[in-house]
Amino acid sequence: MKKMFLKLLLLCLWRLNGVFGVSGVYVMEGESVSLNSDLTEMKDDDVIQWRFGYENTLIAEINKRADRITVYDDVLDGRFRDRLKLDNQTGSLTITDTTTEHEGDYKLQINSEIKRFILIVFGVCVCVCVFGDSGLESVMKGDSVSLNSDLTEMKDDGVIQWRFGEENTVIAEINVTADRITVYDDVLDGRFRDRLKLDNQTGSLTITNITTEHEGVYQLLINREIKCFILFVIDEVKSVSVKEGDSVTLNSDLTEMKDGDVIQWRFGDENTVIAVINKPNDRITVHDDVLDGRFRDRLKLDNQTGSLTITNTTTEHDGDYKLLMFPGRLSSKVFRVSVYGE
Ligand SMILES: *[C@@H]1O[C@H](CO)[C@@H](O)[C@H](O)[C@H]1NC(C)=O
Ligand SMILES: *[C@@H]1O[C@H](CO)[C@@H](O)[C@H](O)[C@H]1NC(C)=O
Ligand SMILES: *[C@@H]1O[C@H](CO)[C@@H](O)[C@H](O)[C@H]1NC(C)=O
Ligand SMILES: *[C@@H]1O[C@H](CO)[C@@H](O)[C@H](O)[C@H]1NC(C)=O
Ligand SMILES: *[C@@H]1O[C@H](CO)[C@@H](O)[C@H](O)[C@H]1NC(C)=O
Ligand SMILES: *[C@@H]1O[C@H](CO)[C@@H](O)[C@H](O)[C@H]1NC(C)=O
Repeated sequence: MKKMFLKLLLLCLWRLNGVFGVSGVYVMEGESVSLNSDLTEMKDDDVIQWRFGYENTLIAEINKRADRITVYDDVLDGRFRDRLKLDNQTGSLTITDTTTEHEGDYKLQINSEIKRFILIVFGVCVCVCVFGDSGLESVMKGDSVSLNSDLTEMKDDGVIQWRFGEENTVIAEINVTADRITVYDDVLDGRFRDRLKLDNQTGSLTITNITTEHEGVYQLLINREIKCFILFVIDEVKSVSVKEGDSVTLNSDLTEMKDGDVIQWRFGDENTVIAVINKPNDRITVHDDVLDGRFRDRLKLDNQTGSLTITNTTTEHDGDYKLLMFPGRLSSKVFRVSVYGE
């Protein structure tokens, strides 16, 4: 049960907000939550289907061609009965009066395109997560990293809380009402001891002298909202050299990717995304037009292992390549590639 919870929690990190974090929507149990189709309007011959759970049970459907809107709310022992609202303009689905029975995997099929949502109920709360591309950051051992709340200033009332890891351990808290700032750096065997700095104006958290023990998922709770951050800690930099004009393969060391895995390859100081394998969305993308096209027609991504090959290298391909994998298995690698001339 714990393991399952962790998995779902990690899956929740998809909707990214800014460079570093991901945010979901945090709703109290019993409230409504909307799963957004992102359509502004449906076309005349569109078919939209909402499915739920491992069995892909059909729960709602709009068939524009047949001019039919159907909500199947008596399926699955009636757990959705009188709880589904389907927007006939956009196809978005609202689940009202949520309980833990509504936790799970929702699929929206618009014609042949599929969008996936994971709905998580944290005891009294629900978190909605949408799969999408992410802008994850990584840091080196010993560095500091700031997790940005994006608040410019705190409201007069309320509580800001930072949580870490599988058990959602509270590591820092600002109680604005009580004008109290608390850093719990003794928790979790003291791995955060003397390493946490909490900005009392913005609520942002800085972790100094990072080690692999700090790798994982951080959640920031501000009143009813949750923002998640994944922190990767890079342990090792592999040096690779290659003769100009030759190919070089950066090996992920995976034999096979799992269904929930997302892999990103990033290049250079700016961490530009050059390739992504997104298994949940069944998408493989090579961004070889970035950085003035220096990678154009030169990137090969192995869709089984995630390994990246750069062909016909030039000195422009010198630099650091980062491999980031999440959410099921958090892992990262850095390859420092140097290209030498004849
Ligand atoms: C769409 O929904 C609106 C308001 O819920 C309703 O007035 C309208 O009749 C609906 N249109 C169709 C085609 O069902
Ligand atoms: C914040 O402080 C106020 C006043 O001391 C207290 O009533 C409230 O319970 C505190 N909230 C939390 C979440 O600790
Ligand atoms: C907030 O932090 C500043 C500088 O770190 C400090 O001078 C100030 O007293 C702090 N305010 C509170 C309410 O803790
Ligand atoms: C960083 O942490 C390591 C142990 O994890 C410790 O040995 C070292 O002294 C720390 N460095 C600083 C600057 O605090
Ligand atoms: C993976 O790559 C192989 C060989 O390049 C190709 O045949 C296959 O269609 C690819 N699979 C996906 C899902 O792209
Ligand atoms: C390798 O790249 C150079 C330019 O950097 C180009 O002139 C050459 O045609 C390329 N060779 C192959 C085999 O693509």
